[in-house]
Amino acid sequence: MEMTKTLGEFIIDRQTEYPNATGALTSIFSSIRLASKVLHRQINKAGLVDITGAAGAENIQGEQQQKLDIFANEKFKTALAARGVVCGIASEEEDKYVNFEEGNTQEGEYVVLMDPLDGSSNIDVNVSVGTIFSIYRRVSPLGQPVTEADFLQPGNKQVAAGYVIYGSSTMLVYTTGNGVNGFTLDPSLGVFCLSHPDMQMPEDGKIYSVNEGNYINFPTGVKKYIKYCQEEDEATQRPYTSRYIGSLVSDFHRNLIKGGIYLYPTARSYPKGKLRLLYECNPIAFLAEQAGGKAISAPDQPIMDLKPSELHERTPFFVGSTKMVNKVEEFLREG
Ligand code: AHG
Ligand code: MN
Ligand code: MN
Ligand code: MN
Repeated sequence: MEMTKTLGEFIIDRQTEYPNATGALTSIFSSIRLASKVLHRQINKAGLVDITGAAGAENIQGEQQQKLDIFANEKFKTALAARGVVCGIASEEEDKYVNFEEGNTQEGEYVVLMDPLDGSSNIDVNVSVGTIFSIYRRVSPLGQPVTEADFLQPGNKQVAAGYVIYGSSTMLVYTTGNGVNGFTLDPSLGVFCLSHPDMQMPEDGKIYSVNEGNYINFPTGVKKYIKYCQEEDEATQRPYTSRYIGSLVSDFHRNLIKGGIYLYPTARSYPKGKLRLLYECNPIAFLAEQAGGKAISAPDQPIMDLKPSELHERTPFFVGSTKMVNKVEEFLREG
């Protein structure tokens, strides 16, 4: 059986599509690959090493940081700082952005925003978690210190985005604006191999993912949509199936493959929504659109057109199969 292409080979092959490619993106992906393999190893023996449970500190989100949140943040930060092509990062686990080149040449052309460990509440119960990343060219001049403006770019300026899902297998799924491709880690070789070429999200689906515990406080349009999902209607194969894993990466990955919609509307404890625009919604929205899906924060409001004003700002999030997002959009418009 022919060896499937590794991620490294795939990137080199695709480089011909970017004649002016400097290899910088290749270098960034090499850092992401390395850090995700280290995380894969820790997660796969989480119960045997002191990597589960709370770290005893709170992050800027007001969440109890888990040991693996901090471990993942450090590994990705170190790996991304090592190559000189990234001038700084922003992270769910960092209050402010981190300038990698304090006092040095400031030659890094890219910034990376990340959720180093998505689905932290699942770590201790052995349910799949992920890492989400979003890559932009810096907007501030080379040679100058990186600025907050470099991180507050709209999602439609992303040059690349992706996630790693640490599930029954570990996969890296990413886009550079030319479709979405998925790679599965072969732990025996330590390489990511192309397993899901040109991923397309089904334009319709029968799975909806939402934390129904928040139902009472959902906006009326969301309540109506959830009731719509639960009604009997043979022609539209309803009632749909409800699946909610509790990590965005896992729910999105299943919906990307099978078709479906993920919703995190405003809720009592999250009046602006829970998910963070810069390092959860924008990268997932980029992948969704590149795979033929759709992502909005409100009717006629694509996620990637939102102009960020704060690093950790939150937004309502509706992402998935286009026909399903269109349907919830109708209910949101009606109110
Ligand atoms: P994180 O673990 O990075 O803080 O993200 C958790 C997010 C997302 O992954 C998940 O879908 C959602 O929070 C779950 O929120 P609820 O537990 O409120 O449903
Ligand atoms: Mn968190
Ligand atoms: Mn997250
Ligand atoms: Mn997180």
